[in-house]
Amino acid sequence: MQEILEELERRRAAARLGGGEARIAAQHAKGKLTARERLDLLLDEGSFEEFDMFVEHRSHDFGMQDQKIPGDGVVTGWGTINGRVVYVFSKDFTVFGGSLSGAHAQKIVKVQRQARKMGAPLIGLFDAGGARIQEGVDSLAGYADIFLENSLSSGVIPQISVIMGPCAGGDVYSPALTDFIFMVRDTSYMYVTGPDVVRTVTNETVTHEDLGGASVHAAKSGVAEGAFDNDLEALTQVRRLVDFLPSSNREKPPQRESFDDPERAEPSLDTLAPVNANTPYDIKELILKIVDEADFFEISPDWAKNIVCGFARFDGQSVGVVANQPLALAGVLDIDASRKAARFVRFCDAFNIPLLTLVDVPGFMPGTKQEYGGLIKHGAKLLYAYAEATVPKVTLITRKAYGGAYDVMSSKHLRGDINYAWPTAEIAVMGPKGAVEIIFRAEAKDPEALAAREAEYKARFANPFVAAQRGYIDDVIMPHGTRRRIVRALRSLKGKQMANPWKKHDNLPL
Ligand code: HXC
Repeated sequence: MQEILEELERRRAAARLGGGEARIAAQHAKGKLTARERLDLLLDEGSFEEFDMFVEHRSHDFGMQDQKIPGDGVVTGWGTINGRVVYVFSKDFTVFGGSLSGAHAQKIVKVQRQARKMGAPLIGLFDAGGARIQEGVDSLAGYADIFLENSLSSGVIPQISVIMGPCAGGDVYSPALTDFIFMVRDTSYMYVTGPDVVRTVTNETVTHEDLGGASVHAAKSGVAEGAFDNDLEALTQVRRLVDFLPSSNREKPPQRESFDDPERAEPSLDTLAPVNANTPYDIKELILKIVDEADFFEISPDWAKNIVCGFARFDGQSVGVVANQPLALAGVLDIDASRKAARFVRFCDAFNIPLLTLVDVPGFMPGTKQEYGGLIKHGAKLLYAYAEATVPKVTLITRKAYGGAYDVMSSKHLRGDINYAWPTAEIAVMGPKGAVEIIFRAEAKDPEALAAREAEYKARFANPFVAAQRGYIDDVIMPHGTRRRIVRALRSLKGKQMANPWKKHDNLPL
């Protein structure tokens, strides 16, 4: 009997060693942790339950029959994050470079299905060289199986991908189908084809970092929703994010005890929005001053900075915050900002997370670059996302709400539930200067007359009261009382019930 038990221990030890000590040392030398070390940091201590530790590949080509490593390059199972169950897989670069065989894919599919069935988030840690080159079509089939599960789980359970090493070829599309991608700076890169293929096909010479490092995807392409300095920070931040999210679309967002007074007044907000509408201010100051304990998890902080998206809490309840950022491009809506916010709004709506929208927007970005890039379709994504959203929607216009962007940003007309404005709000078709230059073109040569017209237009429209008179704004509120009013608004909306017409699925402008 003792021998049988020892055999189990021996097998377990072999699986835990992955590709062996030399490869583990090489992994550490690159500043990366191993697949198991990462899971230890991601999950609550001692909570990891492993599946399929003894799975091996079934390939007989290229001498693979003599190279079998239990686990086959991915560690899978479940554990808890602050007591809540999550399913995980962690690619083991020390085993065949973490590459994906048919057996490896089946292990991932098993946790994907289990996560969806149980209504728990799925977190994938990537560090791999793509398809197992020795396996061919079994590997391609395995990828497709994973993509299918990702697609079926979209909007059912939160799916999070963390890129912690190479992520190339077939490996990139599973993360792309998930809700959030995070990267580790300097040690991770993501691309469909690597620098060698790029050189062959396009004659371009480019480094791994310049092609697909965190500096590219978290700041330029928007593929990644964030980048962190090392494995430890990335995993700690994923734990923090999970705390904001419900486990599935069947749950309400988590509610936890708040130690921040819901009535807390912030006198400094009375002077936050400068009187001159062209003077910028930091919308994040407003966010941090009104949310519980100044705790804000920002999504894509380095991409499309003209719109700020992230998770916070009011009164202990998770809320998705979307805010135009006057500090970047005056908070204008362009292609990237529209895409970023649309995706965030749709995530919140899919997972029953109420939306707070803070509006200070001069309109959509003009110009050929934007129009050629399809601003019309991309802008429509955000419009669509807000229009279809049925979660509680609270909106506050702090200053500018001009033109189509006023409509888009969770206006009353798109079923905003409670729409507030500060007294500094200006709700109009466009800014006063642009407006009078068009409607009083005949007076264009007389600057004094034009200035008088501008003052007249400003007095008439550059305030929240015309909109308030029509009921498009529910109330004009004092800036210092913003937190109290938002908390009360969200409390009043807790029982909201709203459904859209039946459809197989929508056809949002992609
Ligand atoms: C099998 C692989 C592998 C792979 C790496 N290894 N990638 N084994 N299949 N795809 C093995 C290596 O042989 C090596 O084994 C170990 O992993 C570590 O690899 P190194 O090359 O030594 O590491 P490094 O120098 O850090 O380079 C990492 C790398 C490189 C950039 C990822 O390994 C690489 O370019 N790999 C191939 C990437 C690729 O072309 N994949 C196929 C993509 S096509 P030993 O025994 O020496 O430790 C694809 C199509 C699917 O994915 C499409 C589905 C939709």
